Amino acid sequence: MQNLILIGFMGAGKTSVGKYLAHKTGMTFVDTDERIVAEQGMEIAAIFEKYGEPYFRDLETDLLERMQTDTENSVISVGGGMPVRERNRELLRSLGCVVWLLASKATILGRVSGDGTRPMLSGGDLEARVERLMRAREAFYRDAAHLMIQTDGLNIAEAADTVLREARKFGY
Ligand code: S3P
Repeated sequence: MQNLILIGFMGAGKTSVGKYLAHKTGMTFVDTDERIVAEQGMEIAAIFEKYGEPYFRDLETDLLERMQTDTENSVISVGGGMPVRERNRELLRSLGCVVWLLASKATILGRVSGDGTRPMLSGGDLEARVERLMRAREAFYRDAAHLMIQTDGLNIAEAADTVLREARKFGY
């Protein structure tokens, strides 16, 4: 079976929903941030701090390239910025069925407030940062995704069930 890939903004629930989905279907769970951390032996924030964002983005693209041949039958949750590069959007779509988990700004803010592990959200006014990045990324998520699932008001199990239902309708 091909992979099921979850994309979306930070705090949209990609990792929690992905883990639940993998458990429910017996598929393998893969998280691109976790793979990068394991391979580099450094946390994401430390990679950003030491080498900068473009270096991290290159690590993401390099990983997606390798996943074309080393990853199958997996639920894959990817970092929120992965779909920004056009090459990554192509690579994501060739990996399997790409599902965009959408959540409102209020939902996102409720989940990411007080989290110091995300360098893209550190410093300044959190709400303004989230709003600006969400707006800047929307078209990229839309372009990368085969399916979009609105998750506001859904718990993890409900969101996962909706993903499976819609993916199956889509022919997954
Ligand atoms: C990022 C999202 C993070 C992580 C990194 C950059 C982004 O992943 O890849 O901090 O640019 O949106 P999550 O979406 O899992 O938080």
